[in-house]
Amino acid sequence: MDQVMIFDTTLRDGEQSPGISLDVAEKLEIADQLARLGVDVIEAGFPIASRGDFEAVEAIAKSVSGPVIAALSRTGFKDVDRAWEAVRHAEKARIHVFIATSKIHMEKKLRMTPDQVKAEAAAGVARARGYTADIEFSPEDGYRSDPEFMCDVCQIAVDNGATTLNIPDTVGFAVPEEYGKLIAYVIDTVSGDYAVSTHCHNDLGLAVANSLAGVANGARQIECAMNGLGERAGNAALEEVVMAIKTRSDYFDRVHTGVRTEELSRTSRLVSRLTGYHVQFNKAIVGRNAFAHEAGIHQHGVLEDRETYEIIDASTVGQEAAQIVLGKHSGRHAFADTLEKMGLHLQGDALNAAFVRFKELADLKVDITEADLEAIAADEVGAGVVHRFTIAELELHGGTAARPTARVVLAHGDGKSEAHGTGDGMIDAAVDAIAKATGVVGTLEDFRVASVTGGSDALGAVVVQLEVAGVRASGRGVATDVVEASARAYLNAVNKVVRIRERGEASTVRETEVGP
Ligand code: KIV
Ligand code: ZN
Repeated sequence: MDQVMIFDTTLRDGEQSPGISLDVAEKLEIADQLARLGVDVIEAGFPIASRGDFEAVEAIAKSVSGPVIAALSRTGFKDVDRAWEAVRHAEKARIHVFIATSKIHMEKKLRMTPDQVKAEAAAGVARARGYTADIEFSPEDGYRSDPEFMCDVCQIAVDNGATTLNIPDTVGFAVPEEYGKLIAYVIDTVSGDYAVSTHCHNDLGLAVANSLAGVANGARQIECAMNGLGERAGNAALEEVVMAIKTRSDYFDRVHTGVRTEELSRTSRLVSRLTGYHVQFNKAIVGRNAFAHEAGIHQHGVLEDRETYEIIDASTVGQEAAQIVLGKHSGRHAFADTLEKMGLHLQGDALNAAFVRFKELADLKVDITEADLEAIAADEVGAGVVHRFTIAELELHGGTAARPTARVVLAHGDGKSEAHGTGDGMIDAAVDAIAKATGVVGTLEDFRVASVTGGSDALGAVVVQLEVAGVRASGRGVATDVVEASARAYLNAVNKVVRIRERGEASTVRETEVGP
């Protein structure tokens, strides 16, 4: 049995999804959980892209142990050097070098001849190999490249020290049979000691099928992202490839993965909360309805024997009903201990703020579940790093008789600012007041609300997308009151915009024409 390496790119390709802007603390939280999940490689970011990316890769390399930590790099020496500088602290460090090999990318994007691309690949890989023995090479847009030319470039990469060849279907154009054949062709054509990897985008909804066809044809690494995040329609969903290999072990009888599948649901929830990307209810494996049976006939069958309508036991992927974990009388120690057991590592200000929120919630809600705690903790990840403004007071007046109004007092540094707002509804009024108090006025591009658990005392989780003069950020907030949750989400997004502006964290590379 071969182990198929699970290469998680949630923090790199996934983070390139529109509207996602994770800060260092949030990326660390996700990386810790990915390590707990048992992925083999974490692609932590693209260090040359921005200061924020660099710092996140460096922080993950310094503190996350277990998986290989990879940093993405174009072939230029400046890129490779920066990638190494960020990832060099890792227990096991990898540099992932890429250059496009398709005609359209070479001509229109790189403006390079095929010979120049070969020379770039040789030089970039050799430079990276000078730093570490673990080098991955990707011929970007590999699937749409001339296979012979792509293999020539791959051979050059292996001859210069690449140990993994990753074959990207960058634009999600592949179909399983053809993609599988391409993987087999690479293995037949390129000589040397290397592993082959898949990297499939989901533009036609085929990313998982294509990745599995790659494995069936000899690939031993799958690049994927939690909840299928990634550029445009996303990457192959990690939870789906892992569970397909496990559940259909009769078909994939020569491979297995090292993933601890019971951690899949929690990882999915954490990624969803921190990125602001909701998981669709009927999403395979991690969707909230993935194990729900509606039709009477189905319910009857499952009660008799689960396997009449279920191919996976929900507990295998950590989808049991949320456990009641704490109550009103639980103290700080029990709270911190429970978070730690759940794999949530809050410290200092973030832990204090989360405990205050927990106590407030315990006054309103009798049973506090794991899902509640996860929501509160996710809200406080990065407190002190990201939270420039925090809500000190929020007063709302609404109803049908008069125009809704809001008064907000925000704390920032040693000061406080107060503002009044009005709006079409109470949420609108709260947003107006926050915009006045912070001086950050933007456009709310998206607004979504969901409940964390059931019942009228459930926490409401709100996710917003905010755009302020070209800077986009998502924000999230939870509270038992939906207006308060909305205000928190809006302020969270404002704080991110302020940080991105102040620290110049907006990507410098993705906006050019040569990013991945
Ligand atoms: O989709 C792609 O081609 C990529 C590469 C950088 C591997 O993300
Ligand atoms: Zn990609």
